[in-house]
Amino acid sequence: MRVVSGIQPTGNLHLGNYLGAIRNWVRMQDDVTAQGGQCLYFLADLHALSQPHVPAELASNTREMVAALVACGIDPERSILFNQTQVPHHAELQWLLNGTARMGWLNRMTQWKDKAGKNREGASVALFTYPVLQAADVLLYQATHVPVGDDQKQHLELARDIAQKFNNDFGAGEEVFTLPDPIIPAEAARIMSLRDGSAKMSKSDPSDMSRINLTDDAETIMTKVKKARTDPEPLPSDKGGLDGRPEAANLVGIYAAMSGESQDAVLARFGGEGFGKFKPALGELLVESLAPINARFIELRQDRAALDAILRQGAEKARKLAVPTLEKAYAALGLVR
Ligand code: TYM
Repeated sequence: MRVVSGIQPTGNLHLGNYLGAIRNWVRMQDDVTAQGGQCLYFLADLHALSQPHVPAELASNTREMVAALVACGIDPERSILFNQTQVPHHAELQWLLNGTARMGWLNRMTQWKDKAGKNREGASVALFTYPVLQAADVLLYQATHVPVGDDQKQHLELARDIAQKFNNDFGAGEEVFTLPDPIIPAEAARIMSLRDGSAKMSKSDPSDMSRINLTDDAETIMTKVKKARTDPEPLPSDKGGLDGRPEAANLVGIYAAMSGESQDAVLARFGGEGFGKFKPALGELLVESLAPINARFIELRQDRAALDAILRQGAEKARKLAVPTLEKAYAALGLVR
């Protein structure tokens, strides 16, 4: 079993990243490595170039993201933690896969459509080919499982399509690439913005009030939860009553994911209550759950040399695992090395 997943080091790690993906990274690290499998987790710093960025911020965000991931429980001794840039094989394989990926496939990607918007002519080429690099990220290591939030499902389906077509076209009867399975949590696969129940919680939302950052202090978390947009109705007594109430559903979903209960169990307790009672309870739950992560993060972020060493050592291990697949792909395509 080989688990591979990535996160862009743009801005802070937020609650959507944590509940949608990182918590599963930690769980899989514990289960998979105990069974002799491997987990590779990386910072998708090359993907970050698809949007306008400030170089000095990318560098500091990259180090902060390593600190945040370790604070969440990623153990660089058990998992391979690195940044894409230090493993050039990702970019190399992307080029090899560009011959297999089809324009039509990429044109259908919802993230491309959302992020490029009406300005396709002005969008970067990197934004368009982004999913091919993402396919390379996982195929390079023969990943069997990829823990992600719901918004990455389409990109993973594309990775499978690319792998399948490459295997068919160039595999000569053999599987050059393993087809990876996405692992998406049942609860909290898509955490929404605190300001708008129809938009996902995101690092790129200009309003910091729209998200809970894992680095927020207790007071900030309480304020954000209390100011979260809601409707005036009391909470329903079961999950069905949340239909058509996206903001309420989001807050109940966050509570359930964080406490490990079902949404029905949460509503059995809070049904009939107004948000005046539910929001402080949710705020306290978040503060209590995130406080240890926050404390570790503040400590870890101080030691820049230690963070750089984690990435360097992780990249060294990742490069060794990447070489055999990359060589297989070059050979399958008839490229002389
Ligand atoms: P990124 O950096 O946007 O997000 C990292 C992970 O967090 C999940 N996530 C969410 N889950 C639930 N609710 C939300 N509001 C929410 N926001 C983010 C994402 O689904 C993701 O799992 N393209 C990827 C990074 C990437 C990658 C890869 C992932 C690059 N190569 C290869 C897996 C495999 C991205 O931008 O994720």
